[in-house]
Amino acid sequence: MAEVTYILDDLDYYSEAYQTFTHCSVKTGAIQDWVDTAFKEEVVEKLSKRCQSADPLKVLGIGSGAGNIDCAMLEQLLPTFPRITNTIVEPSEAQNDLFKNLVKEKEDTLKGASFEWRMETSDQYLDRVFSCEGGVQPPKFHLIHAVHVLYYAADLKQTLKRLHDMLEDGGLLFIIVLSKHSTIIKVHRKMNEIVTDMRPLLLTDEQVGAALDTQNMPYSGEQVTRYIQGTSIFGEGCQEGDHLLDFLTHSKNFRKMAPDNLRESVLKYLRDPECSIEKDGEVLVFRHWVPMSVPK
Ligand SMILES: C[S@@+](CC[C@H](N)C(=O)[O-])C[C@H]1O[C@@H](n2cnc3c(N)ncnc32)[C@H](O)[C@@H]1O
Repeated sequence: MAEVTYILDDLDYYSEAYQTFTHCSVKTGAIQDWVDTAFKEEVVEKLSKRCQSADPLKVLGIGSGAGNIDCAMLEQLLPTFPRITNTIVEPSEAQNDLFKNLVKEKEDTLKGASFEWRMETSDQYLDRVFSCEGGVQPPKFHLIHAVHVLYYAADLKQTLKRLHDMLEDGGLLFIIVLSKHSTIIKVHRKMNEIVTDMRPLLLTDEQVGAALDTQNMPYSGEQVTRYIQGTSIFGEGCQEGDHLLDFLTHSKNFRKMAPDNLRESVLKYLRDPECSIEKDGEVLVFRHWVPMSVPK
């Protein structure tokens, strides 16, 4: 079988495909939309009660990518916390550059926020700060967020423990993770049925919940159901459709590189009612995720 490259092996391509994925959910429920509406109640109001006197509010962003979600969060936080310092841990240089450009564009709405970027994975960053070199203790934050990134940590339980340890008393760890019902998980399972162990199954809210439970870290969070406009997946020769298919399969050039039986099975399965619905001539692929708040 021709090698179908794992998308994480090319971080810049991964991020490009993710941006298309995000773009195709703008009209049908992007995360940003959720942040603009529910984040205030889920996070800002809790923090304003628990960390009232935080000045500045110290925020750590893990896997922030191009920064769209971080900036949407900051726009919700700044009216309550007028000074916010942000440490961003993101291994892709291209994504960090996009984030820096976005901050320049949003100069007016982000007044009061300052930024420091670390071009590292979460494991590299956490190993470094927890090595306590020279007797320096890991820094503390009022808000730590990890939006669709915990999948890529080597050890989930240890990562959650370290992030929790880095919270100030009264602080909040905010996670967004795929739900066990999400189409990406189902597609990866289908791929593994056809080609043994082709993709590591991404972790879901179930594993994150279990890892929090075993460490006595209470949390709250309910599944959010949204859609991706996925009609272009089923056309040929269209970059948008190729990116969507690549993100859903976590592969690079899936349409071209996958063996015929695998490609045909995945495309057929994506039309299954388990994965998508059709509305007004548009294929809408389910996007289920869970926002989880972990207070300290
Ligand atoms: C699905 S994107 C989410 C981006 C952003 N949080 C958002 O919601 O728009 C995952 C991000 O995590 C980054 N990433 C991948 N592996 C990582 C790791 N081991 N540690 C930290 N970030 C990682 C990727 O470069 C990418 O920007």
